[in-house]
Amino acid sequence: MTLWGGRFTEPTDEQLRALNDSISFDRRLYRQDIMGSIAYAQAIASAGILTTDEAETIIGGLRDVLAEFEAGTFELKGDEDIHSAVERWLTERIGAVGGKLHTGRSRNDQVATDFRLWVMAATGEVDALLADLQTALVEQAEQHSDTLMPGYTHLQPAQPITAAHWLLSFFWMLARDRERLKETHRRTAVSPLGSGALAGTPFPIDRARLAADLGFHSHSQNSLDAVSDRDFAVEFTFVLALLGTHLSRLAEDVIIYSNPRFGFITLDDRYSTGSSLMPQKRNPDPLELARGKTGRLIGNVTGLLTVLKGLPSTYNKDLQEDKEAVFDSYDTIKILLPVLTAVVQTLKLNPEAMRTALTEDMLATDLADYLVQKGLPFRQAHHVVGQAVSAAAREKVGLSKLSLETLRGLSPLFEADVAEVFDFAASAARRAAPGGTAPAAVREQLAAARLSLGR
Ligand code: ARG
Repeated sequence: MTLWGGRFTEPTDEQLRALNDSISFDRRLYRQDIMGSIAYAQAIASAGILTTDEAETIIGGLRDVLAEFEAGTFELKGDEDIHSAVERWLTERIGAVGGKLHTGRSRNDQVATDFRLWVMAATGEVDALLADLQTALVEQAEQHSDTLMPGYTHLQPAQPITAAHWLLSFFWMLARDRERLKETHRRTAVSPLGSGALAGTPFPIDRARLAADLGFHSHSQNSLDAVSDRDFAVEFTFVLALLGTHLSRLAEDVIIYSNPRFGFITLDDRYSTGSSLMPQKRNPDPLELARGKTGRLIGNVTGLLTVLKGLPSTYNKDLQEDKEAVFDSYDTIKILLPVLTAVVQTLKLNPEAMRTALTEDMLATDLADYLVQKGLPFRQAHHVVGQAVSAAAREKVGLSKLSLETLRGLSPLFEADVAEVFDFAASAARRAAPGGTAPAAVREQLAAARLSLGR
């Protein structure tokens, strides 16, 4: 039986039911739905709608149904959605008094409440997984604050950097993701319960207390907004899409650096796969999946915003489309993060290969800075060094192999001490201002990362 059959003489068409029913996915809200109902039963008892006995019977029944769900023994009987399923079970077990639970409540404020509670819990779970990935990055970085590697812009060799600096760049992206999760949680933790179908509830329910009982920090101020506000769902899917974008960028770097042409990184056997045809292959599948799955994370935000954009005021059934996008993004991130954490933990960095990939042209900026220190304006220094780079290319030698004579031909400011410029470690070490790649600055960055991680 549906919750709304009274005015109908014919049963719902079977095909409409298949379209309309949401139980296949919203059963995931069972815990939130039941906890919400327990708190609601207490609230309407305090408002004098239930006697103490009735409230005890209803709450006892709700605890039993929760136990059945957790034990996996709850039996669905063609229920439309999770709210109908719980209420149906309750009246079957405790009788007509179960039908009092819904007094003053609509599935519109109920589903918004359940869904918010679910997202609130989910932000915490994703946050904990993110902290694990951050820890893995910090632990790898701690091994490599002195390891030199090429840094790239436009994927072209740019300047020497330390490997720890590269690893930690992802730490800070994830730190911002965690901040966004926290803020999403704060905006989600506003209780819509007590908004009724759209206009509010006529019963004297203590909404503030009801909100606090459920772990919300406050309750909504406008019932029309409250029953149709899905900003929290959009935000959550957006935060996960941006997180996915960060994971995808990390994945892309690791894919490139583990390519044999680079050889900077070796993926652990457990986290790479082979080819069914080519025996030599070692494929970075988990990283490609991180990159690929980010597509659906972005699709979920777009889909959700599209559902919302033309809705008339208050609840419309379109809103039932909110859950699958959120569940899918959450499931995707939940399966991705632990694997990426393990990939980072087991990555083997190859300092030798990184070192070999450093070429003297990556010291061109340092050479310009040398001239700047001798008093030449940077723009001119840039031009002079450009000429030196082109001379070296003509002579088919590294920059350091240009004779002092050739250099002095370009600028009289070059002196014998120019030889000191051609040192990759010194180049990195010079970038010691906070946030720079110098080992000394990176050690401070590591301390800041540890502090922000609280681990
Ligand atoms: N299954 C519905 C949803 O997910 C619950 C709310 C139904 N409300 C209604 N007025 N039909 O949105």
